[in-house]
Amino acid sequence: MPEVKKERAPARPAGAPPPVPTPPTGSFTLAHVSDLHLTSLKGTTIAQLLNKRVLGYLSWWRKRRRVHRLDIVEALLEDLKTTRPDHIAVTGDLTHIGLPNEFADAGQWLARLGPPDQVTVIPGNHEAYVGKKWSAQLSAWAPYLNSDDKPDSFRTGEFFPSLRIRGKVALIGLSSAKPSLPFLAVGSLDEKQLNRLASLLKKTGEAGLLRVVLIHHPPVPGTIKWRKRLIGSNAFAEVIARCGAELILHGHTHTETFSEMQTPAGNVPVIGAPSASEMNPHSRRCAKYNLYAIERDDDGWSLKMLIRSYSEESGQFEKDQEAKMRLPQF
Ligand SMILES: [Fe+2]
Repeated sequence: MPEVKKERAPARPAGAPPPVPTPPTGSFTLAHVSDLHLTSLKGTTIAQLLNKRVLGYLSWWRKRRRVHRLDIVEALLEDLKTTRPDHIAVTGDLTHIGLPNEFADAGQWLARLGPPDQVTVIPGNHEAYVGKKWSAQLSAWAPYLNSDDKPDSFRTGEFFPSLRIRGKVALIGLSSAKPSLPFLAVGSLDEKQLNRLASLLKKTGEAGLLRVVLIHHPPVPGTIKWRKRLIGSNAFAEVIARCGAELILHGHTHTETFSEMQTPAGNVPVIGAPSASEMNPHSRRCAKYNLYAIERDDDGWSLKMLIRSYSEESGQFEKDQEAKMRLPQF
């Protein structure tokens, strides 16, 4: 089990500017942003809601439109200009019910977040709300989904698993998104994705890269309610144990989570980021995102994790907690 040391940031004197994290020199810094649900359903027609989408629309009307706030999304953009990560990973759920206009709006927002070579996106279950052909809409985000060597994936719609290599870091994106029955938000990975995942993990592992796997649904059973689980998590765990990975990042929970997956070389950290746009005093949810400073030394890979939380008081994201850990060495 990697050593995890958590430190809460000291209280900041009134009026003092929020501190900016200082990643170790020479490290690669990855921001992990998730579950923004940043689109609006204003103007949605009755005809668009004649299926499971009506439930999603009611959820947006009753709650989501109030707790997922655009002012926090703007604060997030400002904060990322300050923390200046080398890359940003977005682990799904930018939309509410996966309507075409939501994909278009979220695509415009991604352009504000950063250029496609610095931002990697995977879909969440809210992108795959209904219909067998939901994934056709992903082409609106194609530059943010494409593998480095497959810039024309939008022609086939087969984006996943994606592979993007940035320095010594290999970002492997999966799509666990799939339409599910009303009141379910489950996900899964088909055999084709799992087989290609295994091959990518082997190839990038042999190249000595640090492998970061991105998946929307938490892959460790018990992290989330049964109705929101990853179906077939055992098959995913078998691939990770057999082929290795240094870090697994997910969303979907809307809360910060930390778990591990066992491999013969040691336990792989599995980290869930909360929603980066949600402030909900009833559930005590606070918008956050994570920064991971990844560094290689003589003993292998180390990870410094910094959590940035939104403050109602300042209207900005601020340093919250940090943790340090060693990553498994394969
Ligand atoms: Fe989700």
